[in-house]
Amino acid sequence: MNGVTVVDHPLVQHKLTLMRRKETSTASFRRLLREISTLLAYEVTRELDLTTMRIETPIMEMDAPILEGKKLVFASILRAGNGLLEGMLDLVPAARVAHIGLYRDHETLEAIEYYFKAPEDLENRLVIAVDPMLATANSAIAAMDKLKERGARNIRFLCLLAAPEGIRRFQEAHPDVAIFTASIDEKLNEKGYIIPGLGDAGDRMYGTK
Ligand code: PRP
Ligand code: URA
Repeated sequence: MNGVTVVDHPLVQHKLTLMRRKETSTASFRRLLREISTLLAYEVTRELDLTTMRIETPIMEMDAPILEGKKLVFASILRAGNGLLEGMLDLVPAARVAHIGLYRDHETLEAIEYYFKAPEDLENRLVIAVDPMLATANSAIAAMDKLKERGARNIRFLCLLAAPEGIRRFQEAHPDVAIFTASIDEKLNEKGYIIPGLGDAGDRMYGTK
């Protein structure tokens, strides 16, 4: 699909299968999500711009590559986004963090916002928004609306599973935001869950119902 990168690395796919299994415990689910997010972070940051810095090795001077521009912002869509956030921060510890509190109303599937906190100067930074699930896309669209309202102009969206319906809606609303995912699943069921999916990501991460 245009505008969507599916991260098909064997380790990502193996870990995703373990996460999908209903027998997987809360502790294992959290650990796997953290591990997988490091691998996804590698892909979503693959094309970052580099500049050079003059350094001295023990042998000689050289112009060595370093990341160009201002520090990245990771925007976690609560709650489940925090599972991806942890692994991303393992890889890019200096990143700034935004939190966007949203939950799905189980009847209407609308996204209800309850919290937003982000660094001031979003317009000058690459923002990578993270949430394991892109289902109807109501949450992701609301999160992008909010980030753009606060100035973000360069955003990527990273998830674990995406439904084709959600991808279509997301791209209609935010065609400028590239999507990275570990899998495009079959479809949504009548309750708005991704199938085959992995269930409710937040509940599986935190042992709630
Ligand atoms: C889940 C998930 C996404 C949203 C996806 O969150 O983490 O944010 O659903 O569904 P959508 O694409 O149809 O909006 P949930 O609302 O269950 O909140 P939680 O993370 O606090 O559990
Ligand atoms: N949110 C989830 O956590 N899982 C789904 O399948 C859909 C939305």
